[in-house]
Amino acid sequence: MKRVLGNWAGSVHIALTLVALPFTVRASGFCKSINTRASSVCTLSSVSMSSATHIKARCTVYPGSDKQRFPVPDDKVSWATVWPEYSPVNYTALSVLNNPAWADPDIGSFSPRFNALDGSVDRQSHEGDYIIQDGRPLNPRGRTGVNGRGLLGRWGPNHAADPIVTRWKRDSAGQRVSHAVSKQPMLEFVSIKRKDCGEWAIPGGMVDPGELVSLSLQREFSEEALNALEASPQERKKIHERISQLFSSPGFQVYKGYVDDPRNTDNSWMETVAVNFHDETGDSISELPLQAGDDAAQVSWCDVDSSQPLFASHSDFLQAVAEERHAHW
Ligand code: BGC
Repeated sequence: MKRVLGNWAGSVHIALTLVALPFTVRASGFCKSINTRASSVCTLSSVSMSSATHIKARCTVYPGSDKQRFPVPDDKVSWATVWPEYSPVNYTALSVLNNPAWADPDIGSFSPRFNALDGSVDRQSHEGDYIIQDGRPLNPRGRTGVNGRGLLGRWGPNHAADPIVTRWKRDSAGQRVSHAVSKQPMLEFVSIKRKDCGEWAIPGGMVDPGELVSLSLQREFSEEALNALEASPQERKKIHERISQLFSSPGFQVYKGYVDDPRNTDNSWMETVAVNFHDETGDSISELPLQAGDDAAQVSWCDVDSSQPLFASHSDFLQAVAEERHAHW
């Protein structure tokens, strides 16, 4: 895992003072009671990002479809391994082929500039230059058993941003809570239950074309954890003011790079920048009333704990945060 434990925007920890927003907490039900029988998009077992070999990206059935990936054994993942028998299934979802604004046209009908900023679309990978073969970008982590774009809109990297908002877990007297077994102090993070697969996740999302990642982090958190899209113009203004204050504060970049996501194909893959914004004193971010919005069905403060199943590679990000802050995992 390519962890970058330097500062995200300057100095390290933050202690903001935010006044409560005029919203009530509508979300109920804590993360521990989640339904883990989610759809195939999210139910694949978790894997450490430190492994160079992707695993979720080789799951047997492509998410949201009945397409079976061509089986790729560990020793055949690398493109450097010659494998003439390799015959990946071609799949691009109808939702992508229907030409929505977030998706590219088909190769042949447009001329993307790969490994470059292509107009407002960033086709550069955090992993460095990727190979173009027969006009198509090749997944930097190797074979997946599927070519085309699957559920992803962009040929090449599809950029996401993950805001990890944390605080120390406290008891009713305001004292930090330590884990019964590890004896280490426990962290909580703002988690959403995704509508698409029912799994709990960091409230992340895609970086819009031309958008700075710092803004995507803020926008996704506002939309999914504070329901900014449905707020009145006045409420939205207040959310914007307070969230800009929060996210312009120093956090630290936990991860930047390729994500082992089950939607990945040989020609399209997910990458993300995950940044931790931590409320050390418990009187800043913690004051924000949470309300699920956009792609989120629920929102809640959840324990940072290895037993909590999470979407895609989100557990790996939280593990990195826990290690950095010497917290229970
Ligand atoms: C999610 C991010 C996630 C990324 C890669 C995006 O769709 O919103 O939270 O990190 O996919 O799996």
